[in-house]
Order: sequence, then C-alpha cells, then structure tokens
Amino acid sequence: SALRSGSSSSPSHFLRRCYCSESVPERKVTILGAAGGIGQPLALLMKINPLVSNLALYDIAGTPGVAADVSHVNTISQVAGFMGEDQLGKALEGSDVVIIPAGVPRKPGMTRDDLFNINAGIVKSLCIAIAKYCPNALVNVISNPVNSTVPIAAEVFKKAGTFDEKKLFGVTTLDVVRAKTFYAAKAKVPVSEVNVPVVGGHAGITILPLFSQTTPKSNNLSDEDIQALTKRTQDGGTEVVEAKAGKGSATLSMAYAGAIFADACLKGLNGVPEVVECSYVQSSITELPFFSSKVRLGKNGVEEVLGLGPLSDYEKEGLEKLKPDLKASIEKGIKFAAQS
Ligand code: NAD
Ligand code: LMR
Repeated sequence: SALRSGSSSSPSHFLRRCYCSESVPERKVTILGAAGGIGQPLALLMKINPLVSNLALYDIAGTPGVAADVSHVNTISQVAGFMGEDQLGKALEGSDVVIIPAGVPRKPGMTRDDLFNINAGIVKSLCIAIAKYCPNALVNVISNPVNSTVPIAAEVFKKAGTFDEKKLFGVTTLDVVRAKTFYAAKAKVPVSEVNVPVVGGHAGITILPLFSQTTPKSNNLSDEDIQALTKRTQDGGTEVVEAKAGKGSATLSMAYAGAIFADACLKGLNGVPEVVECSYVQSSITELPFFSSKVRLGKNGVEEVLGLGPLSDYEKEGLEKLKPDLKASIEKGIKFAAQS
C-alpha cells in the first residue's frame, strides 16, 4: 500500500516503525474535554490505538492527572496533558484529528437541545482555536446538541476562512452501535456481524436507523419488532440518562463509539481503502444542509457522502417526519454563530 511504500502527503507525517514491523505515519490526536466522563475512557482507548503517535489531552481542569495516568499504559503513543485556555494552542498544534466531547451532559427530563445555551458557546470557542492552530485537522464533534453544534462549527470555520466540509464530522456512531446491539439481540444473530446504517441526525426522531438495510438479513422480525427497535435506538440516550438518574449521560459506550469513529478517520488519512462510517456532515443527499449518512473516509476526510439507498415505507415516513426538526436545529446553530 501507499503507507508501506512510504508515501506521505505532509512533511510532519514521518514514517514510524512499529514493533509489528509495519510502518504507519505519525498522527497526533487531540481530545478537548479529556477529563470528562467521555474524555477519560476515550483517552484510554486512543492511547491503545496503534495509529496514534501523539495524544494531547485538553480540558479546563483535571488533565494533568488524566494524562499522567493514561501515559503509564505501555503503548507507543506519547501523551501530554494541557489545562486552561493558555495551553489550548499547544494542545492543538499539529493535530491530525481533534475530538470534542467538551460540554455539559443531560439530566433526566432534559432534551439535548436544553444543552444548547451552554454547549454552543463552548464548541464555538474551541472551534475558533482549531481554526487558528490546526485548520487542517479532521474535527469530530461529540458535544450535544450535535444537530446544532456541527452547523455552529461550520460557521466558525467559514468566518475564519478555514472551512472544509470534508473535515467536519458530527459523531453519530453511538446510534449505529446501539442499533447493531439491539438488532442482534432481537433477531438472534451474531452481534459482531451486524451492520445497520443510521441516518438523519442525533436527537429523538431525527435518529433514523435503516433496519431494512441491515446485514445479515433476518426474516424473523415483524413490522412491530422493527418499530420497537427504531424507537429504542432513538431513545437509547434517554435510556442511559434515566438509568444514571442525574449523574450524566452515556460515557463508556460513547467513548467506545468515539474511538471507532476516530480510528476510521485515521485509517482514511492513512490511505486504507473502503473505510465507511455513518456521520453527520455537510450533505446534499436531502434538501437539508447537514445530514448523517454513510460516508467514505479518505486522505482528505470525507471522500464521498453515500446516498440513502432503498428505504422501506416506514423509513420513508420517518425521513419526512424528521426533516422539520433537524432543519430547525440546523438553523438555530447557524443563527447562534451569526449573532454571537
Ligand atoms: P462531562 O461533564 O463528564 O465532561 C465534559 C468535560 O468537558 C468536563 O471535563 C469539562 O471540564 C469539559 N469542558 C467544559 N468546558 C470546556 C471547555 N471550554 N474546553 C474544554 N473542556 C471543557 O460530560 P460527558 O458525559 O463527557 O459529555 C460531554 C458531551 O458529550 C455532552 O454535551 C453530552 O451531551 C455529549 N454526548 C454526545 C454523544 C453523542 O453521541 N454525540 C453521546 C454522549 C454524550
Ligand atoms: C446519547 O445519545 O447517549 C448522547 O447524545 C447523550 C444524551 O444526552 O442522550
């Protein structure tokens, strides 16, 4: 492959020799919000990813401890902790992938949109710094409400003159992870083999799993089963918020999902072929400017936004129903970025 033959698009991406005797380019990953409920397990999972050579952990508090702890894991990457705004630039400089789980999580009774007032400002300020210190990085936005925080990030980058729609992602992998888990249990098929695309957005009915496209196909599920699986996937976040009873939302499953998505981004950057994941990106596959669907990842980030494929009548109905909600969340984000 291009990797092993040693080609490299950027001078900072020197080839590095692993103990496994394969060469992979140097890659820096930065986590913003690294001392939080998602940030900590995500830091651990990125530390054990052999594609990561530099791991920068940034938060407004607590990162020296998290970095010291994670740095003792005997894997190849170098870990550094950064705390407070004056260290944000150093955390971001030279980064290939920036993951953003910074912001407040839900408590029971709240919607993701109830987080907007706090998290919109956090995402905006972090994106201003990204535009300044690592404008070419792939940005993975986890902070909710994703349906609005991704349009906010896009507007910030546009204002800074650094926007590249191929490099901005809303992380919706947890919806895919849940859809796979719930489907496998119900259909009694091996979970490791299941694939389900999830499209739309990342809140309530905007989350639309396409169970009609699931592989391997199971013929023993009724329409009612599919509707129940759809609803459970849409309410998966709330299920965790209620079970945690005031102590936050999904962190461990989200760290797992975030690590899968970041790994896919790194593989794409490294030239691995046919890396496909669902993500909430700038899109023209519907009339909405941002939409989650399968995307093919490559050396520039998004290589191709894949179409929706054939939908069942139930999914077609779900798609039409989600559009007004998703449109409003996108417009709210754009308006916030324009006003502030
Ligand atoms: P948390 O409160 O445990 O951690 C958030 C961290 O962000 C804290 O350590 C905090 O200090 C930090 N932070 C706050 N402001 C910051 C700033 N300006 N710069 C850097 N760091 C800052 O919350 P959590 O459980 O880790 O959740 C984080 C976010 O992820 C929430 O908005 C939550 O809704 C969202 N989330 C998204 C998904 C998804 O599927 N996309 C899944 C789960 C959670
Ligand atoms: C999730 O889907 O678990 C996250 O978006 C967190 C939440 O608030 O539900």
